Amino acid sequence: MDLFEMRDFDGHEQVVFGFDAASGLRAIIAIHSTALGPAAGGCRMWPYATPTDAVSDALRLSRGMSYKNAMAELPFGGGKAVIIGDSREKSRQRMEAFARLVDSLGGRYITAEDVGTTTADMEQVACITPFVSGLPRHGMEGALPLAVPAGSAPGSDILSTRSPLGDSPIHVGGDPGPKTALGVFLGLKAAVRFALGRTSVEGLKIAVQGLGGVGYPLCRLLAAEGALLRVADSRAAAVQRVREELGAQEVRAESILSDDVDVLAPCALGAVLDARTIPRLRARVIAGAANNQLAREEDGEALMRAGILYAPDYVINAGGIISVAHEYQGGATAAQVRAEIEKIPTRLTAIFERARRESRPTSAVADQMAIDRLAAAGQRPLQRASARS
Ligand code: NAI
Repeated sequence: MDLFEMRDFDGHEQVVFGFDAASGLRAIIAIHSTALGPAAGGCRMWPYATPTDAVSDALRLSRGMSYKNAMAELPFGGGKAVIIGDSREKSRQRMEAFARLVDSLGGRYITAEDVGTTTADMEQVACITPFVSGLPRHGMEGALPLAVPAGSAPGSDILSTRSPLGDSPIHVGGDPGPKTALGVFLGLKAAVRFALGRTSVEGLKIAVQGLGGVGYPLCRLLAAEGALLRVADSRAAAVQRVREELGAQEVRAESILSDDVDVLAPCALGAVLDARTIPRLRARVIAGAANNQLAREEDGEALMRAGILYAPDYVINAGGIISVAHEYQGGATAAQVRAEIEKIPTRLTAIFERARRESRPTSAVADQMAIDRLAAAGQRPLQRASARS
């Protein structure tokens, strides 16, 4: 593997390989940029087929975090960690070995949970290093009521400023999934307004692929505003829950992308939008949480030519990192975090308007804006990767 020649290398500042024989840890930490601050991004645990696949994923995700943090106007750079292995093989010993690797970087990289890791894992990491965020909020996880009470702002249950404990920093942080869902919900509404001229999702058919930590709370917000949900997940129990609780219609997992809907919200896997799937899309808006939804950069162009409005993934899904970043910095109130998440629709609308003005894909406009912000912060000229995955 020639790391420096890899398509995804893209000017990374540092890539660290960690091995611990006793716990079986094999991990990679990629730091794309610290121009805006310490590199912040989650730790993914995944059974990669080869170490090259793991490196490639770390690099791609790490650059994505640089762009995401820059666009969310956070004082953090971009980084990502991957642990090679099945998350079912996780052990305290292995998470502690990972924590020592994070600690050895002296704060250049700050970790958090991601696919395959949890807030509980991060609590173990926090026993070894302070360079971690996304820690559990004990006694408060899973405290979302089943429906948004009438008259309350959508998402007010997700980021409550009216808890019995008052507006205190204790409400900031914890599982980023519900905050990501709130940002996606608000961003999806901005996309619907821009593309369909509608101020509400009431009566719109919305397909949600993936009903996990983000997809499920997103469905609740959409259902509370009267959207007609069509859902797919590879876990039958996840589908059953939203069918029973929210009256969602099940769609076969292999058909969800081409379902006849107004909006598609990919909230499961990356690289779902490619030369094979784009011609079959029937939605006019794509607005979901999954990272790296476009398989290649040119797929953004294909979406534009098909007349489909695409909400760039790393802009719409920034709610979680906004929460994690404020938790790490300390001192922010829930109201402040919510106010930051509420900027996501404004940012998206600016991207949509510029893309229309310049007849460019929304994905290309977002990349350009992120690269410009990094350059203004002193990042060495970034070489654009020719493809996203
Ligand atoms: P999760 O792992 O909790 O949920 C993903 C869901 O997708 C699971 O229920 C899984 O069964 C389902 N799934 C997997 N393959 C599928 C397929 N082929 N068809 C249908 N369903 C499938 O993950 P989470 O946290 O909900 O994240 C979802 C996406 O959003 C991921 O791509 C993640 O990287 C991205 N994301 C998540 C953030 C967060 O705060 N959790 C923040 C930013 C991005």
